[in-house]
Amino acid sequence: MSELTYMPLDTSLSQRRILLGVSGGIAAYKSCELVRRLRDLGAQVRVVMTESARHFVGTTTFQALSGQIVHTSLWDTQAEAAMGHIELARWAQRILVAPASADVLARLAHGHADDLLSTLCLVSTAPLYLAAAMNQQMWAHAAVQANVNTLRARGVHVLGPAEGGQACGEIGAGRMLEPQVLRDVLVSSFAEGALTDLRVVVSAGPTFEDIDAVRFIGNRSSGKMGFSVAQAAAEAGAQVSLVAGPVSLPTPVGVVQRVDVRSAEQMHSAVLDACAQADIYIAAAAVGDYRPLARSDCKLKKKSGAEVELTLTENPDILASLAAQPKPPFLVGFAAETHDVENYARVKLKCKGMDMIVANQVGERLGFDAPDNALNLYWADGSMELPRNDKLNLARQLIVQVAARYQMVRT
Ligand code: CTP
Repeated sequence: MSELTYMPLDTSLSQRRILLGVSGGIAAYKSCELVRRLRDLGAQVRVVMTESARHFVGTTTFQALSGQIVHTSLWDTQAEAAMGHIELARWAQRILVAPASADVLARLAHGHADDLLSTLCLVSTAPLYLAAAMNQQMWAHAAVQANVNTLRARGVHVLGPAEGGQACGEIGAGRMLEPQVLRDVLVSSFAEGALTDLRVVVSAGPTFEDIDAVRFIGNRSSGKMGFSVAQAAAEAGAQVSLVAGPVSLPTPVGVVQRVDVRSAEQMHSAVLDACAQADIYIAAAAVGDYRPLARSDCKLKKKSGAEVELTLTENPDILASLAAQPKPPFLVGFAAETHDVENYARVKLKCKGMDMIVANQVGERLGFDAPDNALNLYWADGSMELPRNDKLNLARQLIVQVAARYQMVRT
């Protein structure tokens, strides 16, 4: 161990104090590299290992990599003499548990304090990041998902898991995010973003309006633009809640809460709930304007030779409902148009009481499932063009403009 001669390659985490919790999982070996990568950026890293973590990697490895004594127990007098556990909790500016096993998620969700890591997580006020890693069936289990939802609702950042092949030979969502991704999350968590301390709700994807047990009316929205907007808002420091229509996209890193819905009515109530505490609402979802007046619980049968009529009734307008509230959040709507884009966008901006509208032209090869897009932003007394780019880069540019308009209008 050569603590005195260790030179960081970069100083973007210089003076940052990161407590790395390692729990029992095969991904613990990747956390060794994570320590190295964090220290390469100048971070001070102290490692806490659970008892099961030590079945996968020894304390000596983390001690050599971090240059610090490794903490393993509430009752370890040697480690306590170096830094007591309360002092250690206060020392940490960020706590990252990587890997965070299903057991760790359960214990943290329920506030256990019977080992060093869980106690530290309760004592510390530092933002908590959990890099989930487990067998894909475990991750999908309702008990684990309930714990994840509890933690996210409390503001804990549950990161991943990633999809792919697992050490157990199965394929699915369960792998720990790669060390460089976790390192980048910590780097960006220290960067003061344009939306720091703001609560942002993003809606994304289509809605499906059921006709019967197997048929529905939907639209071609892929959800990619809305998910990119949620990611960009989280990167800019916002606390992001994402209300997603039926899409199979992974939750972007940094999003603290995700609510999955199917119909416009469900999206309406989920967005109104989430917006009760929000500063900004970005409506990127393609909400169905109408739903069948009656939904059949059974599959409707074909009546050969007969014409069939479907009666539709109007769905609630989410943006307009929010605009009608006494203190609405800053409202950003989207408009996908096939023609006459500015004219239609400006009419919607006014009629729905939005603060800003993001318009794009859609057609056979544009918008929807395409990886890139081009946007035009309009607000009451101005406009701006964001030229063709991939959806994430566009979303990042959009967030800069939303933050600027928000600061101008609301602060
Ligand atoms: N929107 C909404 N609630 C609805 C329908 C739309 O909040 N019931 C929001 C969308 O999320 C989007 C904006 O309103 O941000 C514009 O959606 P769009 O479908 O283009 O507008 P409509 O008013 O439905 O107009 P039209 O379909 O006639 O173009």
